[in-house]
Order: sequence, then structure tokens, then C-alpha cells
Amino acid sequence: MIELAPSILSADFARLSEQVNPVLEAGATVLHIDVMDGHFVPNITIGPPVVAALRKHVKAPLDVHLMIENPDNYIPAFIDAGADWISVHQEACVHLDRVVQHIRSRGALAGVVINPATPVATLSDILEAVDYVLVMSVNPGFGGQKFIPRTLGKIRHLAELRAQRSLGFRIEVDGGIALDTIEAAVQAGAEILVAGNAVFGRGDSRQNVRELLQVARVAASLKA
Ligand code: DX5
Ligand code: ZN
Repeated sequence: MIELAPSILSADFARLSEQVNPVLEAGATVLHIDVMDGHFVPNITIGPPVVAALRKHVKAPLDVHLMIENPDNYIPAFIDAGADWISVHQEACVHLDRVVQHIRSRGALAGVVINPATPVATLSDILEAVDYVLVMSVNPGFGGQKFIPRTLGKIRHLAELRAQRSLGFRIEVDGGIALDTIEAAVQAGAEILVAGNAVFGRGDSRQNVRELLQVARVAASLKA
């Protein structure tokens, strides 16, 4: 199933619930929340208090993307704040299996993320244990960057491995998703499409959601 996950990184942080609920009413089904610590990535964003504040106003699943060092230490705080999905970077986890088990043991869905230069092969022994894989199609840290086309090969590779091994993880893509890139991402096999700038960056955010979903759904139906 195709799902659009608007990233609040490009929203007005002073008016989050006002900005987020219209895009969910327009058809987006997941809210993507980018957590950055100034160490794993060169930017600092938000922590559990903002997730808890959003939780009170948002019914849709909260998809928390941890771009932080030592993510294991913060999993309980984000789950207590109301996170439904939590993803951690392969590059940030020495004990990835332990971290994934930790997320699931607390009742959230567990995702693993790879940066543009990290091969899919590094996930070979964790694919059975995750609910979703997030392929970064930009280098993490900032919204509004240009989509890196060679990351499409990794989405295709993941979709092939999933079919070959009859696995159930979903494939999410994050970075530079817009009207001119969403079709290729869906054709490659992505089903959960994160979009920040393309939703909140300009124009009517509800109309942006409807247009992105329409292009994505047509691409998915042609693929099926
Ligand atoms: C980047 C973040 C993304 C970002 C996407 O580090 O993980 O979620 O908000 O923003 P756009 O869609 O503007 O590239
Ligand atoms: Zn993200």
C-alpha cells in the first residue's frame, strides 16, 4: 500500500498541529519526525517533548527517524512520548539486532535506515527482524536537498531480496521526494514516501499531498 509521510522538518515549528492536521486530512497517513543530535548529522532538531506534544493532536502513526548517536539510549523516551514507528541508522548501531529487538519489545514498529553510501548488503542479516527499511535518498541532516538517483538501485535490490526470501518488511524512501522523483521511487519498489519540502515548502500543502499521492498511486498501479 502506498503511503505518504509528510516530514515536519519543513513545516512551521511554531504552528505544528495547524500545519500537520490538514495534510493528514488530505490523504497523508503517517507523520515523519526527524530527530537530529548535531553529532550523527550536522544539525539539531527536536526531541521527545515535541513528539509528546504532537501525539496529543495527531491520530496518525508517528514515524520517528532517529539521526542520532547511541539511539538505544533514547528509545524508551520516544516510545513513552508516543512514537509508533522508530527507525535507527545502521551506521549508528554497533549492536543493531539488540536495538531492533529493544524497539519491538516496547511495542513499536522497528525500522533500519541506510545512508546513500551504505550498501544494502550490510542489512542482509537483519532483514528478517525489521518491520521496514528506510533508504535515504539524500545525505541526512537537512530538508530540501536534491534526490540522489543511484539510491533507486538500492530500493530495487531490497525489493528483490524481499521477494527471494519471502520477507515482510516494507520499504520507505526519504529525501528529495517530489513530483519529479516520486514516480521513479515507487517504480523501484518504495511504498512509504517521505516528503518534507514538496509538502510544506510552497503552495497549498493539502494540494501538494493530493498531487504526490496521485502520481505515486498511478506509478504503483502500472507496476502491479
Ligand atoms: C533529511 C530528513 C528528511 C527530510 C526530507 O535528513 O531525514 O526526512 O525532512 O526532506 P525533503 O523531502 O525536503 O528532502
Ligand atoms: Zn527523515
